[in-house]
Order: sequence, then structure tokens, then C-alpha cells
Amino acid sequence: MTFSQSAAWQEKAHSIIPGGAHTYAKGDDQYPVLAPGCLVQGDGCHVWDVDGNEFVEYGMGLRAVTLGHGYRPIVEAAYRQMLKGSNFTRPATIEPECAQELLDLVDKADMVKFAKNGSDAVSAAVRLSRAYTGRDMIARCADHPFFSVDDWFIGSTPMSAGIPRAVRELTVQFRYNDIESLRALFAQYPGKIAGVVMEAATTEEPKANFLASVAKLCRTEGAVFILDEMITGFRWHLGGAQKYYGVAPDLSAFGKAMANGFSISALAGKKEIMELGGLRHDKERVFLLSTTHGAETHSLAAAIETIKIYKQKQVVERLHRQGDRLRRGIDEVIRSLDLEGYFEVLGRSSNLIYATRDQSKQPSQAFRALFLQETIQRGLLMPSMVVSFSHSDEDIDHTVDAVGEALSVYRKALEDGVEQYLVGRPVKPVFRKFN
Ligand SMILES: Cc1ncc(COP(=O)(O)O)c(C=O)c1O
Repeated sequence: MTFSQSAAWQEKAHSIIPGGAHTYAKGDDQYPVLAPGCLVQGDGCHVWDVDGNEFVEYGMGLRAVTLGHGYRPIVEAAYRQMLKGSNFTRPATIEPECAQELLDLVDKADMVKFAKNGSDAVSAAVRLSRAYTGRDMIARCADHPFFSVDDWFIGSTPMSAGIPRAVRELTVQFRYNDIESLRALFAQYPGKIAGVVMEAATTEEPKANFLASVAKLCRTEGAVFILDEMITGFRWHLGGAQKYYGVAPDLSAFGKAMANGFSISALAGKKEIMELGGLRHDKERVFLLSTTHGAETHSLAAAIETIKIYKQKQVVERLHRQGDRLRRGIDEVIRSLDLEGYFEVLGRSSNLIYATRDQSKQPSQAFRALFLQETIQRGLLMPSMVVSFSHSDEDIDHTVDAVGEALSVYRKALEDGVEQYLVGRPVKPVFRKFN
């Protein structure tokens, strides 16, 4: 497998686009040297790079493409709407139509507002919480990797360059599954915390009562409970992780899985908070979400069709089923190669990731790069093990065989040294201070 065309495109991209990509998670530093640098086409869960190499892809479109690339009913729904116009001078009927579809899924929400990016939806929740409570500080979960591109969040990561100290100091952090760490923040900053931001779960499941305790603590402390459902949204349950775990946030943000890759996100929540961004109240006005493309009609059409297919074809159940098949197969390989503790599949079946560890069982970016390199050589593009509706049994079984071969190399690298097998540099985490 060669990547000469990719290399030329990467060179060009880096000279005119900072980072050579529009999402850090897609960047060159996230992949080994021997990797496809530029993709040109997808079909279902298969993609082709600019050199003509074919891959089975995982985590497609950063988890946005949940049904499959070029999934016809969605493309056709969007296309039909495009022919009628994609943006008008006044709201279109498809806006309340789509809003109702989403509200029918999200039990505890009364109102919803759409945007294009998850970041905007979560940041709108943060602003609303500040306006609603008259407070400035935000408590965010330290163990969850990403909430928004905006200053309130990025300022709390190691990549905080360009963000004023005054803003950085307003975001404080608590630990997942540790209610006392959140209680301690409320005690340390009495009457100052406007909102608590977290995902319901990532790779770690919530302890019994943890989510209910967060909701209760927010209520007693007068803070707004904000659940980021960007990933959990339509992967844990069609009603979100909030439905699955039976927890009721004040506000919740959805995105990724809503429209099979079309750009749409949503902030949903309680009327008394959401309406602050509206026209039917006499309080101070809040500039909630307001963007030129926020209600782009074909993305809304794609979302309505996606929700329909999720219901008709029991998509969430299939994501779990295919993820289970993949996990079972790879766990078997791990056992047969004696790799327990060195390579691990983690998370919920509909949202699997993996951990790579070195000889001392410490997290290793070099071993991650090696695993990526060896799976790429065998036709897998696998930064995660997140399946889509299009991953067939055949795709999964081929994947397990290819992962088995890649992990045989991993096993040898544990014995001989990773540098014997990895071509070029290791990969690096996105959030780091220097290149
Ligand atoms: C949990 C979570 N929240 C928010 C976001 C931001 O979404 P977007 O990239 O659409 O702005 C992401 C994106 O990866 C995410 O994973």
C-alpha cells in the first residue's frame, strides 16, 4: 500500500490550511507516517483514499455518519429539500416540524433550538445558564475530553493560548463518578457556579445514583444541569443517554448522530430557561443561538429522515449488536495473543475505543501509532472502533481477522521494541502545549 498521492495533497494542504485539516482529530499528528492523508470517497462504511486504497472505516466523520456514507434515503431527502430552497428570509415550516421530531424523542425537553455545530449548542447552554442564574462560573467534568471550541472550555485545556486569564478562571473542574468533588466546588465557590457540564457517560459507566446526585446537587445549589449528548445522543438510546439512565438535565445538547453527517446540532431543554432566548418574556434578553445557516433546510430534512430511519430500522440496537460482535472477536484475539493489559477494547458496544499500552502497561502513543499503521496496511481505518449501521457481519469479521494480524505485530513489538516495527514518529494527543 502506498501513499504518494496522499503525501502530495498533505503537502499542499499544510501550505494553505493551518494544520492541514479542519478538525484536529483528523490531523497528521493523529496518524502514523504510513497512513492515507486524504480521502476522496465513501460508500457505506468503506472509504477510498486519493491513491486508490480502500479501507473499512470506523468512527466515520468523527461519529457523525451513523448510517453510512452516501446513505441514499438521507441524501435524497436532503436533495428534495435543496430543490425547494435551502435558506429563506423568514423561518420555514420545516423548522417547527424538525423541532417537534426531536422533542418527541427527548422526554424532558420543552423547547429546542438548532445550530450547525455541537460546540455552539453547548456554549449556548453555558450562556443561558449564566443568564438564568446571574452567576459566572462553570463546573465541567475533568474526565470528559471535549465540550466546545469556545473559550470557556478550551481555556481549561493545555491549549489555552489566546484565552484571557479572566475567562480561564471561570471554569473549574470536578471528577466523573465523584459527587464529593462536585460538592467541594459548590462549597469552595458558594453562589458562584452557574452550570454543571458533563456527558452522562464515556467509557466509564455512571455509578448507581451518580447522575441523579448531580441533578439533585444542581437543584439544591441553584445551578443549571447541562448534559452534553453529542456522542451519547443517538448511540446509547434514541431518547439519549438521559432516557437510558433515567436522568433529567435542565438543558442538553445534541449533534453528530442527528443527520448522518449533515451539519446540524440542537440545544434542547426546559422552557423556563430556553425561553430567555425568545420573545415571550419580560426579563433581560439573552442572545441564544442565531446563525445564518442555523436552520439550513436540507440539514433539517436530513435530520427528520435520519430520525425516521432510526425508528424504522432499530438503528441503535444494530449499533450495539455489531459493536458486540467486534468486541467479542477482538477480545478473543487479545486472549489468544496474551495481550491482556497491553491492548484493550473499552466503552459501550455502540461507541468502542481502544487503549494501547507498552511493556510496562503504561499508555503509549508509539504503540497506538503501530496499531494504526498495521491496521491501515490491512485495510482498516481505525482511530476508534465506533461502528455504523452499515458495518455488516462480513465487515466486522474481516476487521477481526485484520486486527488479529496487526496485534501479532504488536505482540512482537512488545518483545523486540516498538521502534523495530513503527515507521517514523509516534502519534500525539491533540491537547498539548507545543508541537
Ligand atoms: C462530547 C462532545 N461535545 C461537543 C463536541 C463539539 O461538537 P462540534 O465539533 O460539532 O462543534 C464534540 C465534538 O467532538 C464532542 O465529542
